[in-house]
Amino acid sequence: MLDLFPLVRPLVHALDPETAHNMTVRFLSRGLSGRFGDTGDDPILATRLFGIDFPNPVGLAAGFDKNADAITGAHSIGFGFAEAGTVTPKPQAGNARPRLFRLKEDRAVINRFGFNNKGLENFAENLAALPRRRGLVGANVGANKDAADRTADYVTGIERLYGLSDYFTVNISSPNTPGLRALQSRAALQDLVDRVLAARQAKMDAGAAYVPILVKIAPDLTSTDIQDIAAVATSSGIDGLIVSNTTITRPASLTSRHKDEMGGLSGAPLMGPSTEVLKAVYRATGGKVPLIGVGGIASGADAFAKIRAGASLVQLYSMLVYEGPGLVTRVKTELAMILKDHGFKSVADAVGTGI
Ligand SMILES: Cc1cc2nc3c(=O)[nH]c(=O)nc-3n(C[C@H](O)[C@H](O)[C@H](O)COP(=O)(O)O)c2cc1C
Repeated sequence: MLDLFPLVRPLVHALDPETAHNMTVRFLSRGLSGRFGDTGDDPILATRLFGIDFPNPVGLAAGFDKNADAITGAHSIGFGFAEAGTVTPKPQAGNARPRLFRLKEDRAVINRFGFNNKGLENFAENLAALPRRRGLVGANVGANKDAADRTADYVTGIERLYGLSDYFTVNISSPNTPGLRALQSRAALQDLVDRVLAARQAKMDAGAAYVPILVKIAPDLTSTDIQDIAAVATSSGIDGLIVSNTTITRPASLTSRHKDEMGGLSGAPLMGPSTEVLKAVYRATGGKVPLIGVGGIASGADAFAKIRAGASLVQLYSMLVYEGPGLVTRVKTELAMILKDHGFKSVADAVGTGI
């Protein structure tokens, strides 16, 4: 497939990053992505998790499509599933611009968006308007900055969107909403998980189907934090963990002029650290809790490294900025080749084999 992105990249990168991002979302939301059209998935990539059949294990990470505008476009460039959000109950403007920075020399991004989004009603309408035979969609829910009871916002999100997505992600790891990450502490997390699972149970008691609920965590956790999260995850009935969100740390290797901007760092420098956390979580949960590995994926080898570290599925976002939409097909093609070279028959066969 002819990849035109190298030709347009200088034009896209001449724009302010947020403007370029908004243009890309608009492009994908209008179904203009045919030129990057994916040619279908190697059968070795098909995988089943949470009772769902994924055509391939490579998903679009949250934050690219905050309002669920570009789901169909995300599937058309080859993603096996697309996670939309983070959505908060009320619309929210987010932080002042500029709030997105390219760290080109480091192949990284810093963002401090702060959950800018159009709110639950708009998000729900967009999901409801998708074709019936759509690809897989995750709904990533969050809390408004000014919420008196943040945990209640997650419950509101799940209640409003129940039945419209294939899974939910409870995002408690954005560094850009002050205090949000405190929900990762043991008592707060237990309370949050109890309340969102009770909301699901109430839906099921009223006749709705089971929808998996995952929790997305930060890469900036101590080993005690990881043990605590693992204890809640293994005992509570949540369906999985997404590891990880962006980091507030700044690796010494960074050289770009924007490296000290406030916010969460993602892209290539996050690959190593987020994979280490993934391994630690896999060990701490004894491999019993399905994990989605995300952070810095730029190749099939990176995706394979996440799978060997314990991920059953992977997601990516930042490296699309540098590689363009052709990255998705490349990651999948390389991953299929690597799995075969190693003698694996499926993605599931390889999960956790690097521990
Ligand atoms: C601009 C930007 C916005 C993001 N917004 C969200 C968000 O709203 N919710 C969320 O859970 N993660 C968000 N993320 C984090 C990504 O989903 C992902 O966890 C992280 O960027 C690491 O993956 P990557 O290195 O492939 O980008 C955002 C990331 C970026 C770069």
